[in-house]
Amino acid sequence: MSKRILITGGAGFIGSHVVRLFVNKYPNYQIFNLDKLTYAGNLENLRDIENMPNYTFIKADITDAVLMDSLFEKHGFDSVIHLAAESHVDRSITHPLEFVVTNVVGTVTLLNAAKKYWNSNMEGKLFYHVSTDEVYGSLHNDNEFFLETTSYDPQSPYSASKASSDHFVRAYHNTYKLPIVLSNCSNNYGPNQFPEKLIPLFLNNIQQNKALPVYGKGENVRDWLYVVDHARAIDLVYHKGKIGDTYNIGGFNEWKNIDLIKVMCSTMDKKLGRKIGESEKLISYVKDRAGHDLRYAIDASKIMKELGFEPSLQFEEGISLTIDWYLQNKNWLENVTSGNYQKYYSDQYESRV
Ligand code: NAD
Ligand code: DAU
Repeated sequence: MSKRILITGGAGFIGSHVVRLFVNKYPNYQIFNLDKLTYAGNLENLRDIENMPNYTFIKADITDAVLMDSLFEKHGFDSVIHLAAESHVDRSITHPLEFVVTNVVGTVTLLNAAKKYWNSNMEGKLFYHVSTDEVYGSLHNDNEFFLETTSYDPQSPYSASKASSDHFVRAYHNTYKLPIVLSNCSNNYGPNQFPEKLIPLFLNNIQQNKALPVYGKGENVRDWLYVVDHARAIDLVYHKGKIGDTYNIGGFNEWKNIDLIKVMCSTMDKKLGRKIGESEKLISYVKDRAGHDLRYAIDASKIMKELGFEPSLQFEEGISLTIDWYLQNKNWLENVTSGNYQKYYSDQYESRV
């Protein structure tokens, strides 16, 4: 069956993997990638599929209500996979309002456009909201996991804004019968992640012999999933998820930050031909992140049992592939850290849209 899918935030880290998967796997679907191209949006992530006949890029801001209405009208989207967001916790601590604007107001603006356009016939429509495990807060006991039924307890301005957007999506289902589905995923890693997040930042710093700023004692725990596996899970939820339901996505793969950092250091020593222990000397313990959540851990049993999700990679394989990618794509890193990526691609696309 043919579909017209609006994917928001498709020039970002996870969004670009979702767009690539859908464009390649479903040639009969029309994929519209809508992205504002903030600092986190990079069309270089999608160079391999940019000329595919079932792919269209739209440079736009999800908070622009008039434009969102007209795009639904013009392109006749029958579903939305909504990933556009401000996504970095440290930035939310310094600029909380930007997170409210994009993550809350932007999501409600999109919900309104979908509701308005689909109002006469909700059959076959879907608003899929991609969210995070951070909405559940911080775990303090080793035997606890986040379930779909765990109460929301967001602790940072970022997670508070994502929690709010989740509530709005569910409220539109309850109040207006908008067909929705949600997923809440754990930390992603892999190619094309902006080098402000732990793994790409540290890989870049190790290459350049720069300090590795470990927050606090490095004892916080995160649950890591390879980004391509998240995209595969999104494909499953989009096609098989039950309307109105929520699915937690994760790979049962918890790491204490400092242990993960040591794995990155020793793997980089081997790949760069350095003496073992050399990169670890770059570790520098710095002031902790304000309100730093101690532990996240997803119980992914529901999506595994109900939708048949299985991560395709073990962590050792995923981190090795990720390290190879950053080592082989020094230009990508250089373009991102120098800011070149923004100018070239927005100029090029401005004239084509
Ligand atoms: P990212 O920051 O890499 O990408 C976000 C994208 O959204 C960028 O391309 C940016 O240009 C775009 N964007 C931002 N504001 C916009 C606006 N107003 N209008 C249109 N586009 C806009 O983020 P990511 O890490 O790929 O995360 C994608 C989604 O997945 C987010 O909703 C995030 O909350 C969620 N998530 C992320 C992780 C993770 O580990 N990174 C885990 C679980 C869930
Ligand atoms: O759990 C899902 C979330 O994972 C997503 O919703 C967010 O969008 C994504 O950014 C990520 O949030 P984190 O805050 O967990 O990711 P980050 O890469 O910023 O940090 C991972 C851990 O590493 C965290 O405990 C903080 C620590 N850290 C991070 C940075 C950038 C450091 O010790 N030093 C650093 O310089």
